[in-house]
Amino acid sequence: MRVLVTGGAGFIGSAFVRRAVATRPQTRVTVLDALTYAGNLANLAPVRERIEFVRGDIADAEVVDRLVAGADLVVHFAAESHNDNSLRDPAPFVRTNLVGTFTLLEAVRRHGVRYHHISTDEVYGDLALDDPAKFTPETPYNPSSPYSSTKAGSDLLVRAWARSFGVAATISNCSNNYGPYQHVEKFIPRQITNVLCGIRPKLYGAGANVRDWIHVDDHNDAVWAVIDRGRIGETYLIGADGERGNKAVLELILELMGQPADAYDRVADRAGHDLRYAIDASKARAELGWAPSYLDMRAGLAQTIEWYRRHEEWWRPGKAAVEASYAEVGQ
Ligand code: NAD
Ligand code: TYD
Repeated sequence: MRVLVTGGAGFIGSAFVRRAVATRPQTRVTVLDALTYAGNLANLAPVRERIEFVRGDIADAEVVDRLVAGADLVVHFAAESHNDNSLRDPAPFVRTNLVGTFTLLEAVRRHGVRYHHISTDEVYGDLALDDPAKFTPETPYNPSSPYSSTKAGSDLLVRAWARSFGVAATISNCSNNYGPYQHVEKFIPRQITNVLCGIRPKLYGAGANVRDWIHVDDHNDAVWAVIDRGRIGETYLIGADGERGNKAVLELILELMGQPADAYDRVADRAGHDLRYAIDASKARAELGWAPSYLDMRAGLAQTIEWYRRHEEWWRPGKAAVEASYAEVGQ
């Protein structure tokens, strides 16, 4: 099978590619990635000789058409992915997440190629902290930020192209991922690398916001389960029952890194900050026979911390610029 992976030099896409090469030798992988600030060829170094890499933009119809024509399957990870950036400058989010997805959909439609769309639970907006409910595939879309609204729009494009043009598409909406190779702008790697640099970790507001954490490898196993066994036209929610408050996650990081529980700063809250995400993944579990393997977040975090300790050369070059741009907005 020839698989075109967009965004394969980013955090989740590169984990998908490394895993595909390791566990699916019959799969030929081509990565299309623009290598924005978030893309890093070093993420693909372990498999570089075994894949084809094309530097290009998913909104570039010519390159997309050529690569889609030679694929049996497109797995679309490429996106502008960070909420805080989307609040500072939404323009690249509209272009990549909406126009880029449109460009891919037109190409898979022309060439009759199977398409899997990677999305987020943030399209559903947020839940109250004391609400026992979780997101299900029937939850109405209600996104809050330029990031989540452009992801929501891209999901809706996929649904329309499936229904009106018969594109063979599936969608997965996953909760917050953690693991190695995650960009230092995101919550968990930012705090780990802050501690490693001697900078105090930064918690937005009171830190009561809840995220539903899943290890990146569990996410990607679920993506393969959807590709292998999912029904065309369906949406699958992926999560590992990993709800935790931000303050609790930060305190766990501090404990695992041998720091006092209060060794952090409270900083300005995020505008429009979603309170709580929680996924009901029973459809994926029942229909696909998928289940997460990382059941202990403490162990998964300890492993992740160890990875950042050992790979300073990977995260150090971008760290100062990320902290400088957070400092500009008091975060
Ligand atoms: P990331 O920011 O680490 O990687 C994004 C990749 O896309 C980068 O390699 C970047 O160079 C590439 N890219 C960006 N714009 C591009 C363009 N115009 N053309 C080609 N390539 C481009 O993101 P991530 O955290 O790995 O997220 C991957 C996908 O998973 C996204 O679609 C995101 O919405 C989704 N998702 C992420 C999470 C999470 O917790 N990180 C959770 C659920 C879903
Ligand atoms: P993030 O990793 O940006 O993911 P998302 O916005 O997709 O949930 O943030 C996770 C949570 O952590 C979110 O509630 C915002 C919060 N946060 C902080 O408290 N401090 C930080 O420095 C960052 C980057 C995020």
